[in-house]
Amino acid sequence: MSFTDKVAVVTGGSSGMGAATVHALASAGAKVKLIDIDKGGAKEIAKKTGAEIFIGDVSNPEFCNSTIDSIVKNEGQVDILINAAGIILRADALDTNDDNWSRIMEVNVDGVFFMCRATLRHMTDKKSGVIVNFGSIWGDVAGAGVTAYCVSKGAVHQLTRALALEHAEDGIRVNAVAPGEVNTPMIRSGREKPPTVDELQKLADETIPMKRLAEPEEIAEVVLFLASEKSSYMTGSIVPVDAGYTAR
Ligand SMILES: NC(=O)c1ccc[n+]([C@@H]2O[C@H](COP(=O)([O-])OP(=O)(O)OC[C@H]3O[C@@H](n4cnc5c(N)ncnc54)[C@H](O)[C@@H]3O)[C@@H](O)[C@H]2O)c1
Repeated sequence: MSFTDKVAVVTGGSSGMGAATVHALASAGAKVKLIDIDKGGAKEIAKKTGAEIFIGDVSNPEFCNSTIDSIVKNEGQVDILINAAGIILRADALDTNDDNWSRIMEVNVDGVFFMCRATLRHMTDKKSGVIVNFGSIWGDVAGAGVTAYCVSKGAVHQLTRALALEHAEDGIRVNAVAPGEVNTPMIRSGREKPPTVDELQKLADETIPMKRLAEPEEIAEVVLFLASEKSSYMTGSIVPVDAGYTAR
């Protein structure tokens, strides 16, 4: 897949699957714009890929609007938007305080909405564009102990479908990937102590049909397919990339 001269914005590009997507898009010739709240991580990925970095919080609508407007001013367009920025909270509903609930919704739902809205304003002018959001298996099936996260990812799936319908006649496609358990910093975060390699393998043996975690690059391959012309007849799709997790 070639993305030569395509302008691709990737949120959450400093780490995990966002970073893998930045690498893959840059290798395929795209001009990548990396948005993340983590400056150190962004600089490292930018050094390796040549991506231009924009540091800020996707839950701030002014930041989203001004960043996209400045990219469009400099490059003329945004061809591709990938929304990978996200956070997790590993807590039952009764252990979720107001601030934690709000923060999950602000980053995982508002952040995706603000980035999509800021970008769609320009994509509708051009009558072209592709958006790929990061949903999750937890947006489709629920899991105990991750209530707020499940709700936020369900919202991302519905946002993806609604935007796809609103822009189906505008030459704009909106899809999402729904990854299973992926070997990124997130899989270790939000727990009392980070799981060991053996503990992660036990989790895979007990819960994943293929008995292993995904590597971030395996998800990025699917993201690139959805961002490319190869998926020209797909919009409003939530694509599971989960080793059979939701097939049961
Ligand atoms: N790891 C998994 O098993 C898994 C599974 C399914 C879905 N997901 C989703 O995939 C996406 C990528 O996850 P990952 O595992 O690569 O996570 P990660 O923690 O490795 O990376 C997330 C990135 O988002 C950035 N970020 C967080 N809050 C931000 C904010 N407010 N503004 C800007 N940037 C912010 C972080 O700095 C980080 O660079 C997330 O949306 C996550 O919910 C992850």
